[in-house]
Amino acid sequence: MRKIIITIDGYSSCGKSTLAKQLAKKLNYTYIDSGAMYRAVTLYFIQNRVDWLAPEKVHEALGNIHLEFVQNSLTGLGEMNLNGENVEHTIREMIVAEKVSEVAAVREVREFAVAQQKKMGTRKGIVMDGRDIGTVVFPHAELKIFMTAEIAIRVQRRFKELYEKNKNITLDEVKQNLELRDYIDANREISPLRKAEDAIILDNSHLTHDDQLQLVMQWVEDAT
Ligand code: C5P
Repeated sequence: MRKIIITIDGYSSCGKSTLAKQLAKKLNYTYIDSGAMYRAVTLYFIQNRVDWLAPEKVHEALGNIHLEFVQNSLTGLGEMNLNGENVEHTIREMIVAEKVSEVAAVREVREFAVAQQKKMGTRKGIVMDGRDIGTVVFPHAELKIFMTAEIAIRVQRRFKELYEKNKNITLDEVKQNLELRDYIDANREISPLRKAEDAIILDNSHLTHDDQLQLVMQWVEDAT
């Protein structure tokens, strides 16, 4: 089978990264979590009190940000490093989730992230998930998937994930965050979240992980 680029876009918490990791493992591809890059930039801005509405401050700050996925030898997955520090866990915290969509709507931040993402695709054999991967980063990808799931199901999934780390989190807080992020992501001026014309829709509200993988593996076969 020839190596291809697989893009997975969609709303927050509909299982994009779970599917992407399953596929990468099965196909021996590299998984790239583009959202981690926006989260890491957001973390840097918060930590360094960068005003992301001031273009010159953003420009200066981005010049000081070095992002890198460093492979975890146990899981084989890339973990987000920000200026040499592993921030894979910190970037999942609510303080970052609350601001990331605002930061990801800033033109210069998107240009910064997209340029690096495009470079990662030169090798093929990758699965990248995000919001604009099939439309902007890899418009010529061989297989594009647009994922969706019912909001109640997405809220439950994300709540479960966050509750394991923070017992104070509420379902309502998670729901509000997801809805707000989806709204900002879908309505921003620059590369808003939308389905690429040639993407296949995958609604996984009622699919098990195995069902989902089996279905998508068929699409991979068709595309290779
Ligand atoms: O995928 P994840 O939920 O970790 O992404 C965090 C945020 O990063 C999204 O809510 C979105 O605002 C932004 N993002 C984006 N474009 C991407 C990936 C993520 O704007 N390709």
